[in-house]
Amino acid sequence: MKKDFIAVSDFSSTELQEMLDLAIQLKKEWKAGGNRPILHNKTMAMIFQKPSLRTRVSFDMAMRHVGGDALYLSPSEIGLGKRESIADVARVIAGYVDVIMARVFDHEHVVQLAQWADIPVINGLSDYNHPCQAMADALTILENFGTLKGLNVVFIGDGNNVAVSLMHICTKLGANFTHTGPEDYDILPSAIDLAKSFASESGSQIKFNRDPYAAVKDAHVIYTDTWTSMGQEEEAKKREAVFPPYQVNENLVNTADKDAIVLHCLPAHRGQEITDDVADGPHSRLFPQAHNRLHAQKAIIVKLLGKE
Ligand code: CP
Ligand code: NVA
Repeated sequence: MKKDFIAVSDFSSTELQEMLDLAIQLKKEWKAGGNRPILHNKTMAMIFQKPSLRTRVSFDMAMRHVGGDALYLSPSEIGLGKRESIADVARVIAGYVDVIMARVFDHEHVVQLAQWADIPVINGLSDYNHPCQAMADALTILENFGTLKGLNVVFIGDGNNVAVSLMHICTKLGANFTHTGPEDYDILPSAIDLAKSFASESGSQIKFNRDPYAAVKDAHVIYTDTWTSMGQEEEAKKREAVFPPYQVNENLVNTADKDAIVLHCLPAHRGQEITDDVADGPHSRLFPQAHNRLHAQKAIIVKLLGKE
């Protein structure tokens, strides 16, 4: 297995499934009130270049659940690549802690951290992808349907970092993946090429459709995210003009399979990409999905540190 968790595309479907199985097991133990101190005395450094609620709290709690500890390093503290080179930051931190989690703007920065640190590095979101989110998404889908194989997962909106990781985990684990969104906001072609190779191995399909209603017909999972990601704030007005046809509202959800679930990585912009009636309605799994970050990440850390 890889030293670092930078992308789900770096892992085989068997490795991903094993991490998900461990997440299910750890969640079961936690629910029964019996966390195992598997990572006693292990510490994680959490480097954030951007704000966070879920990633920060779930990683911190994940470490506590397994008997370890976490240090939060705020955007103003490290000055990654500004106050100090990434190579130097990586080598210094690696002498203090056992694992690094980093949320960065430029994907290349988390890749460089992993290259220079001789301890595992976990990508807590970059401009390219969000692999920990995808693991929690897959866990949530598994809990609802028992498998990803043969399911239709539709991502609506910006072909962004969350879409990339979702597409990769779906095609790795045999779910069909569709993206529907406006022109000029497609998923990166290089990420699509990777997904096509995974899909041909797992037997799943990848589709693209500009019509959101046609795209969600027969969908088992409807997934959306913000129209404007962190770092794109100056484009917000322009984006608000083109994305409204891709809002996840009751009409759209009623077009999908009657048992379809709705996912969103959060934070949600209610009234924009998702309406209140959907976010708080019977198809929504938004909060179990957010809570699954804790269990999915616990499994990632335990696997990377080889302490299972
Ligand atoms: N979904 C997610 O990563 O949320 P945060 O930005 O709050 O960490
Ligand atoms: N696409 C969003 C996800 C936030 C968790 C962003 O990058 O801001």
